Amino acid sequence: MGVSRTAAGDLLLGGMLLSDVVSQASVDTPFYAYDLDAMDREARDLVASFGEVPHLVAYAVKANTAGPVLRRFATAGLGADVVSGSELSVAMRAGVLPEKIVFSGVAKRDDEIALAFGAGERGILAIQLESLEEIPRAAAVARRMGRKGRVALRINPSVDKESLATHSHISTGHDEAKFGISLDDVTDALAAVKSHNALELVGVNMHIGSQLTDTSAYVDAARKLYRIAKDIRDNGCTSLAYVDTGGGFGIDYGEGCAVTPADFVRGVRKAQAEFGLSDLMWVVEPGRALVAAHGVIVSRVIAPKRSGRCQWLLIDAGMNDLIRPALYQARHRIVPLALKLNDTSVDFRVVGPVCESSDDFGIHAMPERPPTHVAILDAGAYGFTMASQYNGRALPAEVFIEGGKVTHFLPGISASEWVERRLLG
Ligand code: LLP
Repeated sequence: MGVSRTAAGDLLLGGMLLSDVVSQASVDTPFYAYDLDAMDREARDLVASFGEVPHLVAYAVKANTAGPVLRRFATAGLGADVVSGSELSVAMRAGVLPEKIVFSGVAKRDDEIALAFGAGERGILAIQLESLEEIPRAAAVARRMGRKGRVALRINPSVDKESLATHSHISTGHDEAKFGISLDDVTDALAAVKSHNALELVGVNMHIGSQLTDTSAYVDAARKLYRIAKDIRDNGCTSLAYVDTGGGFGIDYGEGCAVTPADFVRGVRKAQAEFGLSDLMWVVEPGRALVAAHGVIVSRVIAPKRSGRCQWLLIDAGMNDLIRPALYQARHRIVPLALKLNDTSVDFRVVGPVCESSDDFGIHAMPERPPTHVAILDAGAYGFTMASQYNGRALPAEVFIEGGKVTHFLPGISASEWVERRLLG
């Protein structure tokens, strides 16, 4: 759903006027605002698309780690995909059950592996191992703890990089990527897991990339994964409990996205049925698709600037608050909080205060007389979680809307706290 406008031209998020959030919440700009009800609907729609197929939607916590988001998803019955000990801790403390958590990551430390094996009564659902070298290391940790360590093998399905149609920084399932166990090593990896009594193989998984706007590469790779799962079963392994096809479902950042998360589910269901494995639990790890469209950054316009033929709009949000445009040449729509019907619009290049030329959000149509505030759209995923305090800037506050009002607030870290911390040593 994202944002909408009232007849008077004011921007709404989750039924609340964003201009009211600015005036009521006494929060400094820039800040993030999220619509928790829309995120919840997104999650429930995806869950419903599985029908009768046994499944687990393990939300990729890295997209948005805020407690109110995690608690809402935990209440909706979602699991979590985590990539660090601290993501594991925040997910569990927000109420995600350990048996619904998978732990991915190419360079897990021993203490993180121990945290995962030691969680709850039996540890998390599985640590997803990403290399031959990680297998004996995980076994040694489990042995030391006197626990059976439940593991999955993350397979790198060797997809053609070009076919992924996403930015190279976020393609992960091709031959040159550091992620996963190559198809050539799967047999050795299975034998290695089997040779360790302290480990139990419960799954196979993949994650081929993010912001996928076409299902074909995903479905083809899932088919390779199901083939491996079938071989494992045929060889008499009874502990295999799930196949995890990863996340990556793309969203529409304003330039179109022909597919929905449910389309990915429909595509893979066929492969699952072809291999006769519809009884195995099917895990997916969506991050962006559940949260991106339902978060914005509200930013104050500092001033317009004209120089030569360039017309800039200087705003108080920068690449430290949202790094996606600088890092992936991503485009986020930027719109005024209030729009008058008879405003004539002109093109501004919207830029932030950070001392880098890449602190540039691109060209956006804005009223000729610039608005006081703008919203950067689709910032609910990989926005705050990738923010930094570069240039001595604050980490933005986060405001959470439910039922048409603000129900939670996370304060961020102010610029003056940054000054104190730099002087601690
Ligand atoms: N599972 C694993 C193992 C992952 O590495 C990722 C994302 C996901 C699931 C979730 O992917 P999603 O459903 O959100 O596409 N910072 C980048 C995206 C990086 C994604 C990294 N891995 C961006 O802002 O576009």
